Amino acid sequence: MPDILIRNARVLGGEPTDLLLRDGVIAEIGAGLSAEGAEVVDGTGLVALPGLVDLHTHLREPGREDAETVHTGSRAAALGGYTAVCAMANTSPVADTAGVVEQVYRLGQEAGLVDVQPIGAVTVGLAGERLAELGAMADSAARVRVFSDDGFCVADPRLMRRALEYVKAFDGVIAQHAEEPRLTQGAQMHEGDVSARLGLTGWPAVAEESIIARDVLLAGHVGARLHVCHVSTAGSVEIIRMAKARGVRVTAEVTPHHLLLTHAKAESYDPVYKVNPPLRTDADVEALRAGLRDGTIDIVATDHAPHAAEDKECEWAYARPGMLGLETALPIVLDVLGEDWPLIAERMSYAPARIAGLDGHGNALTAGAPANLTLVDPTVRWSVDPTGLASLSHNTPYAGMTVPGRIVATFLRGVPTVLDGKVQK
Ligand code: DOR
Ligand code: ZN
Repeated sequence: MPDILIRNARVLGGEPTDLLLRDGVIAEIGAGLSAEGAEVVDGTGLVALPGLVDLHTHLREPGREDAETVHTGSRAAALGGYTAVCAMANTSPVADTAGVVEQVYRLGQEAGLVDVQPIGAVTVGLAGERLAELGAMADSAARVRVFSDDGFCVADPRLMRRALEYVKAFDGVIAQHAEEPRLTQGAQMHEGDVSARLGLTGWPAVAEESIIARDVLLAGHVGARLHVCHVSTAGSVEIIRMAKARGVRVTAEVTPHHLLLTHAKAESYDPVYKVNPPLRTDADVEALRAGLRDGTIDIVATDHAPHAAEDKECEWAYARPGMLGLETALPIVLDVLGEDWPLIAERMSYAPARIAGLDGHGNALTAGAPANLTLVDPTVRWSVDPTGLASLSHNTPYAGMTVPGRIVATFLRGVPTVLDGKVQK
């Protein structure tokens, strides 16, 4: 593996400097470096960020390899600037045993483009009835530390309590998809003035908020770690802020789409905008942005949810919820937050790596750190073309939109996975 010398990149937007990548780490960092035989990458005008880490990715393998595979999802991730992704457990079969999480982990290693860290299911088959083999998944080669029934809520409070107690022993975390199912039966979109006008059954904010309120109390009672997936309402932000002030060990994520889009998109009846939790109101978007800035919301996670055409290009009521995210996350966050590179590094790399316990990721770009990084050109604006994305599916809500920020290169332990905007495998 040749050494790589990145010239004149701006680390977190600072002064231009050189970075020498050798043997998987950042060997040297400083102006005017030279290295015999190194491959030179021109970083002039580019911002160097720590490799992004996604805590919430649906890769669809095993089971729906027509929508995405670990390999195609890894390509999309690398092109989005990611060096690690956590793969959600709602595959078929469900990732509720050591066998399945090890399979996903190995597929990730074979693809070799990002580190794929499997998330284990909380309950057998995501059925919400009995706990899955959490200990066996934690002890497996995949070393699972994050557990989630995402797609479904762990609705039974007794089961949720037991799951929190179980993972506390090895400092694991339960990532909850907060949706009180009895309040969302038949729901098609956010419950509000738009749903009333369109005559679609609503998914009320309180269905999310009531579960988060319950779970922060449970997590506080048990003393275990809770992570809240895809927070979507202003009320949820308020509850999490209060829980953090009380010392509850809770972390939270927001998706790029909930930071940008609102329920008004449903007026088109285009199922590309159908997602769970649903797009909410302008006031919710404002509260999510404020929560992300002030740290109430710890991270941005994509909820990258590829779906095959037949599951998405149909009537709204029959369409599956979910949208692509990996290749557009950084551009959307740049659009929303502006070029606050230290904040972006914290919310999209350092904090998600900490929550997931991924020691080799989310490290500051300093000498000796693992060479996981990405180079971004913030001056390029590009138009999102669904068929031009690496994902096997095309369900991006940003088709035709012009977004800022192009990922030029990504390095995983010093090996380029993306160069010149092109994936290397
Ligand atoms: O929109 C969503 N899609 N929300 C989820 O919770 C699951 C996900 C999926 O798996 O497609
Ligand atoms: Zn979810």
